[in-house]
Amino acid sequence: MSLKFAVLISGGGTNLQALIDAVESGHIPAEIGLVVSDRPDAYGLERAKKHKIPSVVLSRKEFESAKNRDEILVETLENHDVDFLMLAGYLSILTETVVKKYEKRIINIHPALIPNYAGKGYYGDKIHKEVLANGDKETGVTLHFVDTGVDSGPIIIQERIPVFEVDTLESLKSRIHSVEHRLIVDTAKKYCEDSLNV
Ligand code: GRF
Repeated sequence: MSLKFAVLISGGGTNLQALIDAVESGHIPAEIGLVVSDRPDAYGLERAKKHKIPSVVLSRKEFESAKNRDEILVETLENHDVDFLMLAGYLSILTETVVKKYEKRIINIHPALIPNYAGKGYYGDKIHKEVLANGDKETGVTLHFVDTGVDSGPIIIQERIPVFEVDTLESLKSRIHSVEHRLIVDTAKKYCEDSLNV
């Protein structure tokens, strides 16, 4: 029986789209059983709808604590028989409630070369703006397993990406995104085939 995974998002969901396309073409031998968003207005939810993938919104505001929200998250994941989770731009920090339950079964994509620009507060455009402001010559993408820290779990793969002097936030982001889409698909595929070399 093929594996089923959930994709957790907070925004546009271009990484989610890459995963959807790879599943639909048969490249990833698995099914996306659920999309979870912590924001009701995340465009990724539209993508899920378009591809008839069940989705659920667990908005931060609706719960008194992150633990409380994650208890509902675990319940939802179990109801959908999910085997593993891909965090694709999910901005909430998962608590032990989820991490312990899905140990070595949660993979996050981070748009920098961890340990650089990683940890609490480093997400989205903030990372790219700092990379540009610091005049860095390279940045990158990291996929890692999620542990109870922030961006601290075992690294699965990293790829370097050049930063050019003429880069703007948009040009850099778009170069990073195209690498992300390839790596997130490769990683999910390898996870399903049990061929990740961590
Ligand atoms: C990606 O750059 C991901 O690495 C970061 O958030 C962004 C999400 O992009 N954590 P998208 O929603 O998949 O387009």
